[in-house]
Amino acid sequence: MVDKKKIKTEKGDSKRVPTGIEGFDELCGGGLLRNRSYLLSGAAGCGKTIFGLQYLYNGITKYGENGIYIATEERPDQVRENVLKFGWDFEALEDEGKLAIIDACSTKIGIPSHEKYVDVRPFDLRSMMDQIIAIQDTIDAKRALVDGTTSIGFYLQDPSKIRVELLKLSTTLEVLGLTSFMTCEIIDENSTSRFGVETFVTEGTIVMYNKRVNDVRIRSVEVFKMRGSDHSKGIHPYEITPTGIVVHPGEGVYTS
Ligand SMILES: Nc1ncnc2c1ncn2[C@@H]1O[C@H](COP(=O)(O)OP(=O)(O)OP(=O)(O)O)[C@@H](O)[C@H]1O
Ligand SMILES: [Mg+2]
Repeated sequence: MVDKKKIKTEKGDSKRVPTGIEGFDELCGGGLLRNRSYLLSGAAGCGKTIFGLQYLYNGITKYGENGIYIATEERPDQVRENVLKFGWDFEALEDEGKLAIIDACSTKIGIPSHEKYVDVRPFDLRSMMDQIIAIQDTIDAKRALVDGTTSIGFYLQDPSKIRVELLKLSTTLEVLGLTSFMTCEIIDENSTSRFGVETFVTEGTIVMYNKRVNDVRIRSVEVFKMRGSDHSKGIHPYEITPTGIVVHPGEGVYTS
């Protein structure tokens, strides 16, 4: 259970960046800390991409903050089609210059891309960062989503290299004035990242679960770590509704 009186909004929290995801911001004192990078971890299909895209969509439509989406695992066309089901018209936001999508997927799998922004060296984080810097000059974004980090980790293999490269990426995003999520796949439900290092190079870690209980799966979310902020220590249920993710902060998953 979240005791809202305990997780207060502190002085100077005009710096908070609300995700606008119903029920989530009250788990962490009103939102994320500005200009910081957060890891969004979870097993396959738990809702990382939807959460991250909802954060970008809300940023543009509710808070006037432009966004950059780096798609490393899904083709942008499919993503645009998927999010339309939630009523989010990404194409319109791109046309208005409020959202930039970098296709970091097509080149990796060897197919052509008709996207405006294509990462032609998808495993080279320097090239990705250069492209983000160039886009930032054009759209002055405040939010970013790197979806995801795991394929980069497999490419680099060595945990010490993964750690350094992801630190460079998260710090570059912060220096550019971006408050970001970087997604991370997990396969072991007791861990919070794939390679054991990702959570150390980000300012906070949000973990999403889709755990089997008897004959159903229950979705839940936890603020595992948030440097510089108090936050809920509970695990809270969430749903994927026709308008996106809704978190239930007043409920625990394993408590009545
Ligand atoms: N329109 C929708 N309404 C309700 N639930 C949906 C809808 N679209 C997708 N989902 C649910 O969300 C899941 C996919 O969410 P998402 O793509 O965000 O997961 P993910 O954690 O990013 O997965 P991966 O690790 O495979 O990238 C689907 O498996 C489905 O259960
Ligand atoms: Mg995903």
